[in-house]
Amino acid sequence: DWTMGAYRAEAVERIRAHVGDGRVICGLSGGVDSAVAAVLIHEAIGDRLTCVFVDHGLLRQGEAEEVVTMFRDAYNIPLIHADEAERFLSALDGVTDPEEKRKTIGRLFIDVFDMHAKSVGQVEFLGQGTLYPDVIESVSVTGGPSVTIKSHHNVGGLPEKMGLKLVEPLRELFKDEVRALGRELGLPERFIGRHPFPGPGLAIRCPGGITPEKLEILRRADAIYLDQIRRHGLYDEIWQAFVVLLPVRSVGVMGDGRSYDYVCALRAVTSVDGMTADYYPFSHDFLSETAGRIIGEVRGINRVTYDITSKPPGTIEWE
Ligand code: XMP
Repeated sequence: DWTMGAYRAEAVERIRAHVGDGRVICGLSGGVDSAVAAVLIHEAIGDRLTCVFVDHGLLRQGEAEEVVTMFRDAYNIPLIHADEAERFLSALDGVTDPEEKRKTIGRLFIDVFDMHAKSVGQVEFLGQGTLYPDVIESVSVTGGPSVTIKSHHNVGGLPEKMGLKLVEPLRELFKDEVRALGRELGLPERFIGRHPFPGPGLAIRCPGGITPEKLEILRRADAIYLDQIRRHGLYDEIWQAFVVLLPVRSVGVMGDGRSYDYVCALRAVTSVDGMTADYYPFSHDFLSETAGRIIGEVRGINRVTYDITSKPPGTIEWE
């Protein structure tokens, strides 16, 4: 008669025993795992938990507000909203190489997190939403790719650098169990069902140089695309869907004038674990309607394409 309610109570007890009267700091990514871990830790130790949300200025439209509002208003969890867009964007200025983008973001992320953690003072523990598959993956040395396709951005190395002990209350759970626990903890359904979002954010959906103008165009197109997917009831059938703003301009006609604007690609895939993926077979009607809306509503885009590459040989993200 194992239930999530019982698991929740047990996990809370274990956190209390582990942390004692220490302080915990927890990074929020905007994803489900870190959110569930944070809410659980807060239930266990209350305001001895401080959360840090590093806003690198590479998030989707409305995303930072959604996370901050949920934690502050709905859960009353002490939260530092580190608005560091300028720092990240100036470090990324002129950077076009995908790996260099990832490394720049990963490095700054650790610096910023560390700085805010120090400002809290007397922190002994770092809370993380590590799942069982992450635990397995980090011990398995066989069968993994022998070349680095992309250096994933995470907070590995952070605990050593900061001299912190780890609190990882989700270490024995799979993704679907974390979602069930999130429901048990009252997280909104819309949040629980969210598609994965990569740590480097929109930087890797904007091939070539990143500018605030390009990010703004990308955010608008992306919001329309997701709105279309939700309106057509397709969100839950898709693993991930997003817009990529290409560093290419093309000529078009607008009314009786000529336009010379950016091209974007729509990406949507189905997948079980992100390791392999198939492109999503949208109807032509859906694609035409969405392209029409993006070109009509977003200044700066005059051509829309659909990416029909599966993984392999493609990857899900473009960089
Ligand atoms: P790829 O593009 O390698 O992506 O097929 C596989 C999955 O991983 C996500 N992704 C990342 N997630 N940090 C993350 O947390 C990263 O640096 C990162 N890069 C890719 C991607 O969105 C997809 O779900």
